[in-house]
Amino acid sequence: MITKEKEENSINLSFLENNLKRINQAILEALPPKNLSKISKAIHYSVLNGGKRVRPQLVLLMAESLNLEVKQKTIDLMAASGELIHSYSLIHDDLPSMDDDDYRRGQLSCHKKFDEATAILAGDAIQPLALEILTTIDDKKLRPESKLKIINLFAKACGPRGMVEGQSRDLEAEGKVISVEELDEIHHLKTGKLIEACVESICILKENLPDQHLKAFLNFAKKFGLAFQIKDDILDVIGDEKIMGKPKNSDFRLKKASYPAIIGIEASQERAEILCSEALEILTKLPYKTERLIELSKFIILRDK
Ligand code: IPE
Ligand code: IPE
Ligand code: MG
Ligand code: MG
Ligand code: MG
Repeated sequence: MITKEKEENSINLSFLENNLKRINQAILEALPPKNLSKISKAIHYSVLNGGKRVRPQLVLLMAESLNLEVKQKTIDLMAASGELIHSYSLIHDDLPSMDDDDYRRGQLSCHKKFDEATAILAGDAIQPLALEILTTIDDKKLRPESKLKIINLFAKACGPRGMVEGQSRDLEAEGKVISVEELDEIHHLKTGKLIEACVESICILKENLPDQHLKAFLNFAKKFGLAFQIKDDILDVIGDEKIMGKPKNSDFRLKKASYPAIIGIEASQERAEILCSEALEILTKLPYKTERLIELSKFIILRDK
């Protein structure tokens, strides 16, 4: 069992630390200068603030697994794009009209530190910026149609058939009884689609990737995304606010449809573990250097933040 491994301290995540420097540098380079304006201050405040960077880590580790020939800068821009979309979604997710949370990543939420209009505009600015930086990819190893496809994938993930639809259904479901299947669909849309875009966009850079390998990676990403959001729901109930850097019981307060609310904590843990084990099994069977991806996948359910 994966939880047993944690007790034995057998997972080594030091490589994530090394990647982190590269990720944060790529994100910093994508941003407007900090002191340009009120909005640029709010953008820096909300993006460069100690998130776990799971989505860009996925991008980097996928690229490592597939041993891609493209420039490192290309991968870095894709990693930054995934994280920017995610960071924008958190700013809006915390707004009073959404989850109304005052803390994020251990500091005041953007609308609390600045004001609501600034938080809305900072989010509005970060979302297109994430796509804009993809248009700047300059790499002879990348065909123009591949670049277009990458932009398409990230745009779709955050749009009306992705995160925005998921966030809307999440809000609609407050106070209602919904089925586990309906909740899975919400989780897939609000969280899973972006995670899938991070994985699929790397897959399309691999020349002659067999179709069944692409399908396997997508299946891996789907399970990873669902397990990730279930664990987030679990932490909302049993996590430590100081470690998480965001309020706990936020879901309970808002009568959110969440995994613990529908099937209870233990069954939620079990479901996250099963999804994670299935994700690991998919990776193990693939003929690529997936060792570090496997470690990252274990981390999603072992994490305490
Ligand atoms: C929180 O995401 C919101 C979800 C989609 C579950 P993370 O747990 O990745 O948050 P940060 O980026 O580390 O702050
Ligand atoms: C957020 O889910 C999903 C997004 C797309 C932002 P949550 O609302 O559960 O995320 P937290 O718990 O506030 O980080
Ligand atoms: Mg939310
Ligand atoms: Mg929230
Ligand atoms: Mg949550």
